Amino acid sequence: MHKIPVGVLGASGYAGRELCALIQRHPSLTLAFATANSQRGETVDLPLGGRVTFAATEDAALDKAALVFSALPHGASAEWVARARAAGVKVVDLSADHRIGNGASEGVPYGLTELRRDQVRGADCVANPGCYPTAILIGLLPLLERGLVLPGARIDVSAASGVTGAGLSPRLDLLYGEVTENFRAYGAGNSHRHLKEMRALVAELSVDADLQFTPHLLPIARGILATITVPLAASLPDPLAPWRERYRGERFVEVVEELPELRHVQHRNVVRVAVRMVEGVRAPALQVFSAIDNLMKGAAGQAMQNANLMLGLDEWVGLPA
Ligand SMILES: NC(=O)c1ccc[n+]([C@@H]2O[C@H](COP(=O)([O-])OP(=O)(O)OC[C@H]3O[C@@H](n4cnc5c(N)ncnc54)[C@H](OP(=O)(O)O)[C@@H]3O)[C@@H](O)[C@H]2O)c1
Repeated sequence: MHKIPVGVLGASGYAGRELCALIQRHPSLTLAFATANSQRGETVDLPLGGRVTFAATEDAALDKAALVFSALPHGASAEWVARARAAGVKVVDLSADHRIGNGASEGVPYGLTELRRDQVRGADCVANPGCYPTAILIGLLPLLERGLVLPGARIDVSAASGVTGAGLSPRLDLLYGEVTENFRAYGAGNSHRHLKEMRALVAELSVDADLQFTPHLLPIARGILATITVPLAASLPDPLAPWRERYRGERFVEVVEELPELRHVQHRNVVRVAVRMVEGVRAPALQVFSAIDNLMKGAAGQAMQNANLMLGLDEWVGLPA
């Protein structure tokens, strides 16, 4: 069977390695090239088996691929996305460079697949969402789309991520001894860079609400759990019903009664969501709990959902459910 050639820029990073592993197990895709910067020339084992040798980014034969994933850092990605597009190649950009709220370009949809599937299908370039925004926005969408948030309210998000969310580049504060048996907030004071895309989407959906987002660093490799507290316009008689209805038939969103845990989602391309009414407060409020694997649904897995759509394949092919 003829396989479609796809390339990965930034393949030696966490998201890039995950992408290479998905491509090697994909029934319709073949890896045309995998690039690295400092790790160029190295051959490594991939997370799910198989091996890959990294080429220099400048040596990537962009025009030999039908689609390129850019898993380069933001800032570095935009130039290579432009080069790939100039070579007539479709692109899924995992960096923030083309996301809404970050200098989005005309005709480049925000690839939150469960929201923008129709736009992604016809696109030549897609901006893959950030990991926190994927967990938080999938958790919030049923409330945002149905006007269930109290107008003018502040939506409070407390979330925690494993250390792979910060990428593979060495940093003192991410050394094992600094992270293990520890827990701390970062991006405090509502300053995390992912707020830009989340605010932009809330505005696109014409919702009048503030977002307050506090991320934390978990002493584990992968996974994000977000606890989102939302003041409601009115009490919900069946709190989970909006999520059940919104995500009926969605393979990669699990709406559940029990609270989601990271072990339910690690190495899987899913968002797992549960909700609870907040008891003992005067105004109606709801808590949404949303868990993902930051490298899978939060990065490579969602990128593959989008690539499948752009290449005319079934959205779920080659993805661990
Ligand atoms: N990690 C996550 O959970 C996650 C989730 C969603 C989105 N993202 C986004 O996905 C992208 C990749 O993230 P990551 O965590 O995989 O990062 P990473 O582990 O730091 O990997 C970055 C990759 O880009 C390469 N690279 C760095 N600077 C380069 C340059 N100037 N020119 C060419 N190549 C360069 C690196 O090569 P060498 O290692 O060989 O130097 C590596 O392959 C980022 O834009 C990030 O924001 C990450």
